[in-house]
Amino acid sequence: MTTARAMGDPRVLISEEDIQAKVRELATRISEDYRGVEDLRMVGILKGAFIFLSDLSRRLTIPCSVDFMAVSSYGDGTTSNGSVRLVLDLRRSIAGAHVLVVEDIVDTGATLNYLLRLLAARRPASLKTCALVHKPARRKLETQVDYMGFEIPDAWVVGYGLDLAEEYRTLPYIGVLDVEE
Ligand code: PRP
Repeated sequence: MTTARAMGDPRVLISEEDIQAKVRELATRISEDYRGVEDLRMVGILKGAFIFLSDLSRRLTIPCSVDFMAVSSYGDGTTSNGSVRLVLDLRRSIAGAHVLVVEDIVDTGATLNYLLRLLAARRPASLKTCALVHKPARRKLETQVDYMGFEIPDAWVVGYGLDLAEEYRTLPYIGVLDVEE
């Protein structure tokens, strides 16, 4: 793990308006794709996904419920330590359920890869993923993302759930930070 420090304020990469338009677009697609499903299980991956999940779930026009998992792979620094650890598990069984995993960001793909294997073993009726942003330049593991918001460059991003050492999560936009390691 590396300790990192922000140099200056974040510069807007994706505006609040653009995020909200994308959330509406994704919610429309998801609502259409799951039409007829009685209880879509939205699984938010803490902590980063809590804001995206909150906005996305409220835009759906189909019945859904929310549950959470927490997986830790990063410390307070900018580099993953490579290991993925389950910190918090679901409250309800997903056997036979339609499950949509919601992430703020897919970076190396390690988190989603780990979660998909874990959740698939629990025999859901279906298992899909939704992520607001992804950094293709950083991808190390093949990862299935069914609903993708934005592709972003390999920069340190914060806001709308994303943090640097627990700061900046509640910014309404996604910004880029210059970081000193
Ligand atoms: C972030 C993010 C994803 C993961 C993506 O979580 O929310 O879960 O990293 O990175 P990966 O594709 O390289 O696995 P983080 O571990 O920083 O925890 P947090 O959500 O609590 O901030």
